[in-house]
Amino acid sequence: MTMANIIELANGAKKETKIIAIANQKSGVGKTTTTMNLGAALAIEEGKKVLLIDIEPQANLSEYLGYSEPDGKPTMTQLILSVCNRSVIAPETVEESIRHNEVNNLDFIPSDINLANADVAMSSALSRETVLKRIFSEEVISDYDYVLIDCLPALGVLLINALTAATDMIIPVQTQKFSIDGLTALTALHSQITATINPELSQPFVLPTMVDNTKVSKNALTKLSERFKDTLLSTVIHKSVEATKSSESGVALCKTKNCLGEEYKALSEELVERNL
Ligand SMILES: Nc1ncnc2c1ncn2[C@@H]1O[C@H](COP(=O)(O)OP(=O)(O)OP(=O)(O)O)[C@@H](O)[C@H]1O
Ligand SMILES: [Mg+2]
Repeated sequence: MTMANIIELANGAKKETKIIAIANQKSGVGKTTTTMNLGAALAIEEGKKVLLIDIEPQANLSEYLGYSEPDGKPTMTQLILSVCNRSVIAPETVEESIRHNEVNNLDFIPSDINLANADVAMSSALSRETVLKRIFSEEVISDYDYVLIDCLPALGVLLINALTAATDMIIPVQTQKFSIDGLTALTALHSQITATINPELSQPFVLPTMVDNTKVSKNALTKLSERFKDTLLSTVIHKSVEATKSSESGVALCKTKNCLGEEYKALSEELVERNL
């Protein structure tokens, strides 16, 4: 426990860790870009302590954070398999698996391609929805202000686990034709989770991404605002090649001068203001 925790406890105020699942079963909508750049903006601009979790077998987020080769420490694959086989996991084992990305001031647990097998093991595990929740015990996450989970593009057991462990959910939606169609299945899953296993999960927040000046993009924004009202975030992320450049350099957008960096900063401010 840190000194800050002790002071908070002495004052009777318990620090609440926000666990935000960044989710959309549609591929390529900006989940990984948002996890990384929102996380970095929260850490660098807002002074928050942030842990990023990669639960996507393609491991794009891990690569973005500079992790590409096994380094001897457990990845999300081993943590998940461990819980599936033994039901519980020691907090020390989870803590050992946390890496630090110096450039962007972020802690993270990477994924790897074998996570696809862990997904299968999870499907037959006892209480399979709570595997991630058991990994991210209070003891492991209490030092963090934010834990952001980069989800995979599928409505499967890993996504159900992320929503079971989460306090909040952000759905990045690419403002293009058909991008809104799949949202009904996702919000239906969210409702099932809040009605059963995780009543504490807040309403899903929607983040428009890859916004441009086309009519299609404007129409999509109007539809999102009619449908989600207050839970449509007021920050929008525009389309820019800077996103891809940042994923290649491994330097978060808020660290260089560009409009996307400013937008991710604004998003981090909005989250803090809305107590999200
Ligand atoms: N605002 C943006 N403007 C332009 N390109 C972007 C933007 N955000 C992300 N991209 C690019 O679009 C591609 C998909 O983004 P990203 O990987 O973040 O999506 P994803 O939802 O995580 O995809 P997947 O479902 O496959 O995991 C990447 O090449 C990324 O660099
Ligand atoms: Mg991704």
